[in-house]
Amino acid sequence: MKPDSFYLSEIEKRLTYGRFVHSLNVADCAKALAERYGADPAKAYTAGLVHDIMKDTPKDALREYVIKSVGGDDRVLMSQKALWHAIAGAYALEHELGVDDKEILLAVRYHTSGRAGMTLLEKIVFTADFISADRNYPGVEEMRVYAFRSLAEAMEEGLNFTIKELCGKRRPIYRDTVDAYNEAVFARMQGE
Ligand SMILES: [Fe+2]
Ligand SMILES: [Fe+2]
Repeated sequence: MKPDSFYLSEIEKRLTYGRFVHSLNVADCAKALAERYGADPAKAYTAGLVHDIMKDTPKDALREYVIKSVGGDDRVLMSQKALWHAIAGAYALEHELGVDDKEILLAVRYHTSGRAGMTLLEKIVFTADFISADRNYPGVEEMRVYAFRSLAEAMEEGLNFTIKELCGKRRPIYRDTVDAYNEAVFARMQGE
């Protein structure tokens, strides 16, 4: 694992200015959520910093990374370009950029799709990505309240938002996202 200063200069090099600022904001939010929920704040900060490291990489290169990492057999995955930067990011961080922390790699890998059985750090980065200071979609203020009140609530809300958005665009939904959504719903129902 290299120091944060190395990852900071890598994202500055690879990302547009707006995306660079977004990454810093997600890192700050992830750290605050880690402090709130008892995860490792330093690790959360690093994961936030690098979560979008491949987001501005051209699609053809991302596709190659996805195929190298998980193969190209999943029709839904291969049709949803928005998911590629997360898989490619985790792959590049592990194989090219010296990240040897499994938790950070998983947090990057699943920050867009979610999955069933997400770790605390995965949930923190997923949620931080929804509430970072640069976000201004309708409902973001409520999301910020949920995020610090209950991570489970924020996850369900975030997954609900993701699935609704995809349905609205008549897009397919990746299996991991459906699994994460169902898990969040059942967790709430059991708590009720
Ligand atoms: Fe992302
Ligand atoms: Fe992001």
